[in-house]
Amino acid sequence: MVTFILVCKLLLLDVGVAARACFGAWGDTVLLNPHQDLGMLEDMLKDPSRPLDNIYVVVLCSTQHTLALFKQVRARGLESTTVHWFVLASSHDLRISLPHLLREGAQVTVFTKEAAGVFKMDVSRVSSQGQVTLEDGGWWRDGRTKTTVPQPHLLPDLLHQYSNFWGRRLRVSANNNWPFLGLKLLQEESGEAAPISGIDISILDALTSTLNFTYQLVVPPDRAWGGPQPDGTVTGLIGMVARHEANLAICEITITDQRETVVDFTAPYWLESLTLVSRAPRQRDRSLAVFWPFTALVWSLIGVATVVMGPVLWVLVWAQTGEGTDTPPPPRPSLQQLTFNMFRSLVVQENLLVSQDWPLRFVFITWYFFCYNIYGTLTAVLAIPTFEKPVDGLTDLPLAAVDGFAVGTLKDSSTEFLFRGADSGIYHEVWQLFHPVHSLLPDPELGFDKVLKDKFVLINSELNAEIRATVRGRHRYHFGRDTFYPHGYGIACTTGAPFRLSFEKMLAWITEAGLINFWAEQEIQKVSGQTATEGGGGGVAAAGDDAEGTGPGSLTLEHLQAAFLLLVCGALVAGVVFLMEVLTEAATTRICPSLTTPSPPMSSASGRLW
Ligand SMILES: *[C@@H]1O[C@H](CO)[C@@H](O)[C@H](O)[C@H]1NC(C)=O
Repeated sequence: MVTFILVCKLLLLDVGVAARACFGAWGDTVLLNPHQDLGMLEDMLKDPSRPLDNIYVVVLCSTQHTLALFKQVRARGLESTTVHWFVLASSHDLRISLPHLLREGAQVTVFTKEAAGVFKMDVSRVSSQGQVTLEDGGWWRDGRTKTTVPQPHLLPDLLHQYSNFWGRRLRVSANNNWPFLGLKLLQEESGEAAPISGIDISILDALTSTLNFTYQLVVPPDRAWGGPQPDGTVTGLIGMVARHEANLAICEITITDQRETVVDFTAPYWLESLTLVSRAPRQRDRSLAVFWPFTALVWSLIGVATVVMGPVLWVLVWAQTGEGTDTPPPPRPSLQQLTFNMFRSLVVQENLLVSQDWPLRFVFITWYFFCYNIYGTLTAVLAIPTFEKPVDGLTDLPLAAVDGFAVGTLKDSSTEFLFRGADSGIYHEVWQLFHPVHSLLPDPELGFDKVLKDKFVLINSELNAEIRATVRGRHRYHFGRDTFYPHGYGIACTTGAPFRLSFEKMLAWITEAGLINFWAEQEIQKVSGQTATEGGGGGVAAAGDDAEGTGPGSLTLEHLQAAFLLLVCGALVAGVVFLMEVLTEAATTRICPSLTTPSPPMSSASGRLW
C-alpha cells in the first residue's frame, strides 16, 4: 500500500495535476497545507496496523515553508525508512540550507527545475564523516509521461547503500556489562570508552568487519539502560540514541514497546527469560535434628504406644496362663518388667521374648514390626541433608520477604519498568516488596555481592546471571526453578536509521549460524580458565562443599547433639536428685536418727527377664 501526501498551498495551479497523478498510481492521496502541523503525518507513521507502508511526501511550497516543515520533521523525529520526501525547490538556497536540518534517516530528494520538464535531482546522503549532504542524483525528465509516480531509480536501495559504510565512525552507546559488553572508561566527562570483551563486542566486530565501519563506545552519564520517563525525558542508553547523541546502542538491551516509541530496534538476536538469583540454600540448623524424623504427634503416639503395650501384655499374660497344662507355669512377669521390656525392644535388637501363647505372639510380632519401622526411619532420615527452602519462583518471594529477604534488580532497567508498570497480579505484588533505594542497584555486580552478604534475591536475566555466578562460584548461588518474562535483546538504532536493515540482515546470519551461543561459551571459557588458575584452593573447597551437599553422609555430632544434650541433662538431674537425697538423709539423721531404716535393695526390675 502506498500513500501520497501532497504538501502545498491548495490554490497552486500544479496541485490538481499532481493530485490526479498520485490518484492514478492507486495510492491514498492526502493534501496537507504547509501551515498545518505534522500531527497527521506522525499519526500515519506510527499507525501500528500499517508498519510497512511506503509514504511519499511531495513538497510543493516556498523555501521558507519547506524549511519550517523539515524543522518539524527533526523535532518530532519523523525520520523513517518508509517515508520518502520529494521536494520541489523553488530556489537554489534550499540546497544549501536544507542539509543542516536533516538527520540520518530523512530520505530526501530535491528537484531543481533547470529547464521546462528537466529537473536536477539531489539526494540526501550521509558522508563517511557522518554529516548529511545532498549529493548529485542525476537528471529527471518529465518526458510528459502520464504519471509523476516516483520511478524505481528515485528510491535508494538502503540495503545496498549501507552494505558498505566506507570506514565511517559510528558512536555506539553502551554500559559496562560483561559478559555482554565489557568496556574500560577512557574519559570521565565525554564518556568515551574502549571495548574489552563480551558477546555484544563480538557482534559489533562482526558487523564492523563486514559492513566496513569503525565505532567509538560512549557511556551515558547516568550509566543506566533507561527509557522514556513519565516526565517526557529519556534516560540512559536509550536516551542517547533517542537524542541522536549516538547512532546505536548495543548492550543486552531488552526490546520493549515503551522504548520502541523513541528508538528503532533491530529484530532480536538473543531470547531469554528472567530468573531469581539467591544464595544457595544452607543446611538447616542441626541442633534439634534427632527430633526431625517425626512430628510431635508421632513422637507422642510412640510414647503412648510404648507405655500402653506393657499393661496390654500384662492383661494377656494373666488371662492366658491360668489354664491347666502339665508343666508348671513359669513365674509371671510383673507389669513393671513387661513395660520395660516393650521399651527395650524399641532400642535393643536382640531382645528375645518367648511365649507359647498365640495372642501374646501376635502382640510381639506386631510390636517388633512397629519397632523395626520406627528404628529404621529414625536413622535413615537423620542422614539425609536438609536445606533451607529455596526461592524458586515469583510466588515464593512474598514468603521469603516474611523471612527477611529483600528483592532487587538493576536500576532503570527493563526489569524495573516491568515491575514498576504492573498495576495488578504477581508483578505488582512483587513490586510492593521492592525497597525504593536499596532494591535498585546501579551495577549487576553489586547485586551478586549482596546476594551472598545479605538476605537478598536478585532478579536478573538468565545468561548474564549464569556467567556471573560461574565466575564467583556457581555452587554459592541458587537459581529459581521457574523463569519468567521471556524477552529479546536487540540493537537500538536512531529512529528511521537506514542502516538498521543491513544490521538486521547481518544479525540474522549471526544467529542462524549459532554464533551467539558460541561467543557466550567463549566468554565462559575465558573466565573459567582464570578462576582455575587464580584460586585452586577455592576450587577444592567448593568440591568439598558439593560432596557434602549432594547426598546422605555419615551422622555427625551435629545431627545427634540433641540426643547427647538429653543424656547430659538426665545425668545432671540425676546428680541433683542424688545430692538432694544425700542432703535430706543427712538432715533426717541429725533431727531424728531413729526414723532411718536401711533402704531395701534395688528391685530386680533391671535384671534379665524370663
Ligand atoms: C572500507 O572503507 C575504506 C575507507 O573508505 C576503503 O578505503 C576500503 O576500500 C573499504 N573496504 C572495502 C572492503 O570496501
